[in-house]
Order: sequence, then C-alpha cells, then structure tokens
Amino acid sequence: MTGGKKILVSGIQPSGTLHIGNYFGAMKRFVELQDEFESFIFVANYHALTSVSDANILAENTRNVILDYLAIGLTPENLFPQSDIPEVTELAWIFNTLITVPYLSRAVAYKEKVEKGLEATVGLFDYPALMAADILIMDADVVPVGQDQKQHVEIARDIAEKFNNRYGETFKLPKAHIMREVATVPGIDGQKMSKSYKNTIPLFATDEEIKKLVMSIVTDSKGEKEKKDVEADTVFALHRLFSETKLAELAERYKNGTIGYKESKEILIKNITSFIGPLRERRNKIARDNKNIFDVIENGRARAQKRARAKMKEVREKVGITF
Ligand code: ADP
Ligand code: TRP
Repeated sequence: MTGGKKILVSGIQPSGTLHIGNYFGAMKRFVELQDEFESFIFVANYHALTSVSDANILAENTRNVILDYLAIGLTPENLFPQSDIPEVTELAWIFNTLITVPYLSRAVAYKEKVEKGLEATVGLFDYPALMAADILIMDADVVPVGQDQKQHVEIARDIAEKFNNRYGETFKLPKAHIMREVATVPGIDGQKMSKSYKNTIPLFATDEEIKKLVMSIVTDSKGEKEKKDVEADTVFALHRLFSETKLAELAERYKNGTIGYKESKEILIKNITSFIGPLRERRNKIARDNKNIFDVIENGRARAQKRARAKMKEVREKVGITF
C-alpha cells in the first residue's frame, strides 16, 4: 500500500451466515474500492457478542466471514478480526465518557433490535461507540455500508467532532458510502433481507438451496398473462442484481403481461446459480488449502495493529492517560 491514498474502513458482524443483501449492500463495494483506498476491512466479532452468546458459534462464524471475504476477492493484507486490535475497545471506553445517554438513545438500530427481542444490554446500547472507535482509530475517510448503518457513521462523525473540540484536532470526520440502487436488498418475504429475519439467500448457497429459496419468494397472485408492476415485485428487485443484461427485456414482459412469476423465478434461479457457483468453488478451495485461515491474514492483522497503536498513543496523551 502506498501513502497518499484515502482510508476506507468497514466491517461485518459474524452474527450468522452472510447473504446476498450483505454482499450487494456492502461487501461488493469493499472489493471494488479496495485498491483505490487504503483499506481496513474487519470481522466485527466484539459487536457480534451483543447477539451471539454461544462461544463455538461465534468463533466458527468469525472464521467463516474471513473465508467469505477471501472468496469474494478481498486482499488478505486488508483483513483482520476486530478483536486483534484491543485499542479499539480501549478507545470505545474513552468515547463513552464523551457521549451522553440521551444522545445514544436516538439510535434507531438499538430500538429495532430490542423490539425484535434482543436483550437490552449496555453493550447493545453502546454499540455505536464501539463502531465509532473502529472507524476513527484508523482515520477513515469513507465507510461503505448499507443504508441501515448510515446513522451509526453519523454518530462516529459527531463523536469525532466532540473529541476534537474538547482535546484538539485528532480525528478525521468519516463519511458513509452508500450505493443508492442497492441500499436495501429485499428478502424472500419482501422485507429487508436480514440474518435475523430468516428470509435470506446465503451468499454461498448450494444450487438446491437457491432453487428452493427463490421458488418460495412471496409474490402477488397475478396470473401469467396479467400486467405486473416491476416496482412492487421482489423477484424483479432481485433481477436488478442478477439479470442486468436482460433487465430491460424482463421489464417489458412484466409490463405487457407476457411473463408469469414462475418463469421469472426460473430465470432468476439460473442467474443466481451462475453467479454463486464460482464463488462457492473458490471458497471451498481456500478452505481446503488453508488449515488455519487466520495465518493467511497475518499481514493484515499486523498492518491494522500498527496503525491503531500509533493513534491510541496520540489519544492517550491528549486525554491525559500518560505517566
Ligand atoms: P443483517 O441485517 O443481515 O444482520 P448486518 O447488520 O450484519 O446484516 O449488515 C452487514 C452489512 O450489510 C451492513 O453494511 C448492512 O448495511 C448491509 N446489509 C445488510 N442487509 C442488507 C440488505 N438487505 N440490503 C442492503 N444492505 C444490507
Ligand atoms: N455495525 C455494522 C453492521 O451491523 C458492522 C460494523 C461494526 C461496522 N463496526 C463497523 C461497519 C465499522 C462499518 C464500520 O453491519
């Protein structure tokens, strides 16, 4: 990595099996931008601890996300597990002394998660402070995320400003990088695709899974020859991601009533299968060739540690944790 490039930081929680919403909403951007920026992409395993309480599952999921990252084409030098950088949790504590309970109470994601039944732990409430630490410790310029994470990046900006005002210029103000057209990928039930809604198409699904899941996508009851609304149909929303070259033709057929949902789904199955197939192969090969996947990213871990340590040294001095 050469100097002078802007900094990119992002992460995904290892809270379950990654899906095509994660890919199109965030991970694809990591791959596209990784060379243009100096990139720090991690597995947010401390964040996942707010929802995963089984140690074996958390450890297994963390390994899986590293494998997923490598399989989609991320460079090993850009990757690390969050927990390899203890300075991040240290910085989150300093931020805790800076932000107020009323301010954090405005975070929408927290409220949504509690409504969905997650226990309202202090960690879940404080999630944005840890995320701010991930971002600010690396001096991030851009943070590619899906729409639902935008508010968290704005919180990181506010925290950076507040810290800078109190202790002097220390942190850069980061910006979220969101792709409008894929801001929210719908799940097979038409709601936002999410690990916690059991409505996902896994990014490394088998051919059988793809078939079964696509066939179960909920549609309206319009018959084969009726005119259909591309904006209201989940199958078509997924065509936008997987059937780019035939999109105009499909839209025409929807409008004219010359395609039924069954045929539309069959086309989608074919296209998703030919997209996922090679990715799955690649992932299997990487898993076969490497007993310990954390060895592969050794340089990524060292690179991130070096940067975080330097920043924390500066922060400790600024706040008076020096002897
Ligand atoms: P999930 O809701 O499945 O638990 P996460 O909250 O772990 O997903 O999200 C990881 C990344 O993927 C975030 O940047 C998030 O914005 C993005 N993302 C998740 N679901 C979607 C979706 N359905 N459409 C677009 N982006 C998504
Ligand atoms: N909160 C993010 C999510 O649920 C994951 C995350 C943690 C993250 N720290 C981050 C994303 C820092 C971007 C930057 O998807």
